[in-house]
Amino acid sequence: MQSYRFSRFGSLDHLARHDEPMPTPERGEVLVRVRASSLNYRDLALLSGQYPMSWRDGLVPLSDGAGEIVALGEGCNRFQLGERVCNTFFPQWFGGPFPIEQGARQYGSNLDGWLCEYKVVSEEALVRVPNHLDWAEAATLPCAALTAWTALTGPQPVKAGDTVLVQGSGGVSLFALQLAKAMGARVIATTSGADKAARLKALGADEAIDYLAVPEWGARARELNGGVGVDLVVEVGGKGTLEQSLAAVAPGGEIAVIGFLADGAAELDFMRYFLSGATLRRIAVGHREGMEAMLRAIARHQLRPVVDRVFPFGDARAAWEHFLARRHFGKVAIVH
Ligand SMILES: NC(=O)c1ccc[n+]([C@@H]2O[C@H](COP(=O)([O-])OP(=O)(O)OC[C@H]3O[C@@H](n4cnc5c(N)ncnc54)[C@H](OP(=O)(O)O)[C@@H]3O)[C@@H](O)[C@H]2O)c1
Repeated sequence: MQSYRFSRFGSLDHLARHDEPMPTPERGEVLVRVRASSLNYRDLALLSGQYPMSWRDGLVPLSDGAGEIVALGEGCNRFQLGERVCNTFFPQWFGGPFPIEQGARQYGSNLDGWLCEYKVVSEEALVRVPNHLDWAEAATLPCAALTAWTALTGPQPVKAGDTVLVQGSGGVSLFALQLAKAMGARVIATTSGADKAARLKALGADEAIDYLAVPEWGARARELNGGVGVDLVVEVGGKGTLEQSLAAVAPGGEIAVIGFLADGAAELDFMRYFLSGATLRRIAVGHREGMEAMLRAIARHQLRPVVDRVFPFGDARAAWEHFLARRHFGKVAIVH
């Protein structure tokens, strides 16, 4: 069977395809015929050496995969042969608060990931995929979709009638838009231009703000919500967007702190935070219980992930190159 490995990060020239022995499931494990995988911003951060968590060289890349169960190890009873599954982002986080040691157990950075034809994992590290999704769509769920779901369903879950602000048109943000709309929320989206603004509106955004044309987009978002501010900011920009997120959020609202896409001042303005009256909650993707709840919602609402482009397994490098060009809208996937 074939897999890709990064001998070391730093350049796509270090990504190579290998013939490897077919893995065999042991007790409690299953063999998955991987049908698709997808890229996340973390795969670019790993490539450029800017991933803020631990990682090592030599691994199969990509944290997200979907496929079909083709062999069961002894004692397995969670799935049957032929079932369609995708992975959970953290293979051993099933529910409850984030176990900090799980931060060092991530596919593609600490464990072999999903850019391979076959993979053996614990049956506990997989969930069933909704029937209406194709393989590429299913492979977009483990990281970006669950992160958006966790942001929306926190201690203060989004209610019908709330206003949610999402930033940009990447994977996490589009899932947050779609899921927030399914929950009955009003969505304000920020983006970098009129074309993307139109696409975000077509996807259900009630308002779109071009953050290049309106650098003070936080005040604009607040204004668009009657001057009170938004109930939740799904914050993916980090240093470069937090100040505007603080301007956008309502007192008693929440900023779900997720990403680090945008450069900016490293310091948090304490008084601005203090006076905002908002809660900052850092997100670490999510757990299996959350993933299963999200999959029920996706099936119930027949939501379809926005897949920008799909590449064949033999041309995985082109998927990175396309994702590196930063012109995508939604997810970039690879079919195996
Ligand atoms: N904490 C966690 O658990 C967790 C989980 C998943 C992801 N993340 C992080 O969340 C972030 C988003 O991940 P992703 O995979 O969704 O990324 P992605 O698909 O690469 O999204 C990129 C999009 O973000 C927008 N963007 C880029 N620069 C921006 C800026 N300066 N200000 C506002 N928007 C900007 C752009 O859309 P527009 O052109 O439309 O603006 C761009 O297309 C990353 O930093 C990632 O590492 C964290």
